[in-house]
Amino acid sequence: MSPAVGDLLRGVEVGPVAHGGHFVARHDGFVVFVRGALEGELVDVRVTEVARRFARGDVAALHRPSPHRVEPPCPIAGTCGGCDFQHVEPGWTRELKRQVVAGLLDHLGGVAFTGQVAEVPPSPFGWRTRMRYRHAADGRPGLLAHRSAEVVPLPAEGCRLAVPAIAAPASAGSPGAELLAVVAASGAEFLARPADGSEPSGTVPDGSGPDGSAGRTVVEHASGRGYEVAVDGFWQAHSAAPAVLVDAVLAGLRPEPGEAAVDLYCGVGLFAGALAAAGCRVTGIEGDRRAVDLAARNVPEARFLAGDVARRLGQVGGADVVVLDPPRTGAGARVLRQVLGWRPRAVAYVACDPAALGRDLRTASELGYRPASITAYDLFPMTHHVECVAILEPA
Ligand SMILES: C[S@@+](CC[C@H](N)C(=O)[O-])C[C@H]1O[C@@H](n2cnc3c(N)ncnc32)[C@H](O)[C@@H]1O
Repeated sequence: MSPAVGDLLRGVEVGPVAHGGHFVARHDGFVVFVRGALEGELVDVRVTEVARRFARGDVAALHRPSPHRVEPPCPIAGTCGGCDFQHVEPGWTRELKRQVVAGLLDHLGGVAFTGQVAEVPPSPFGWRTRMRYRHAADGRPGLLAHRSAEVVPLPAEGCRLAVPAIAAPASAGSPGAELLAVVAASGAEFLARPADGSEPSGTVPDGSGPDGSAGRTVVEHASGRGYEVAVDGFWQAHSAAPAVLVDAVLAGLRPEPGEAAVDLYCGVGLFAGALAAAGCRVTGIEGDRRAVDLAARNVPEARFLAGDVARRLGQVGGADVVVLDPPRTGAGARVLRQVLGWRPRAVAYVACDPAALGRDLRTASELGYRPASITAYDLFPMTHHVECVAILEPA
């Protein structure tokens, strides 16, 4: 029988980790996704949400803890929505992500993932270069509670995930107002309060006036090149991610001078820049107009097309090597059909959602491409997120 919100489910045996970082359990045959648990634990669960075929709940009492459970280092770990795994030994969080990646790639892609999830320093704390704080009712900066609009004030020491420069912003804005905090790896810092109109604090590389985040940029550095990025635009969140992902893409594609390379979902040109430096003739496609304008400035030797990848691909004749770095929804069959129809020598698929990667690997296999390698990186420590790089080659 379906439980109701607020019910206390007693004596629940916790099963394996699921995509999203919650753990699968059953109560009277009904599936319950339990937050803050670990496989093998015996817990009581407070139901927080009920859908037609499953419920969600939080651990309300712990009767038999897992040997992998630890005391969360952050005092707001249970209420803040930012971290999923503070109650887990850091090494075991990567094993949980390995289980999720292996399960999804097998189930959705029919592909065996035999690797591990690599730790990427700084880890597990002090890695995040982009933060979106909000002001709590008392004016302190905070973060959104789990699946809620409620703001949980930061502890005095700030958010442990953030790089130190933006971990504990000093601010007192109106309740609910947003504080966007961005720090470039070079140390240039930007803090903006676009919602309440008050003066932004912090430093910006160009030193221009305090006008919120609109039109403002920071300069990031990767593979020997500077990349101008809008402070509220996309850049890899982990301070080491650009270098790690560029290395993985170049090692997998082995681009040769003179080859035609295409960087799809290129943002401000991170992979386009690395491929151009390797001597390739590069075309990038990106849907965010500001990002594509910046890409053209960041990588002037490449050609960039603005717009939806699926619609713009027709303007690209073909490629020897391709980078695909789509949003969480994945590239999808329409894009893969066009790209793999060029018969590229190799494709690097950078995936922030292993479920989308699994679906796209199945499509790729139907189109005659197989993964030559799949690597997984823990670029989001303490959260359930994981980044994968799959190198696809003709089967
Ligand atoms: C995961 S980010 C990758 C950006 C870049 N490769 C990087 O590493 O900095 C995905 C990018 O795809 C863009 N995007 C999302 N959907 C798109 C679409 N349908 N067509 C073109 N670009 C899209 C987003 O604006 C974003 O810049």
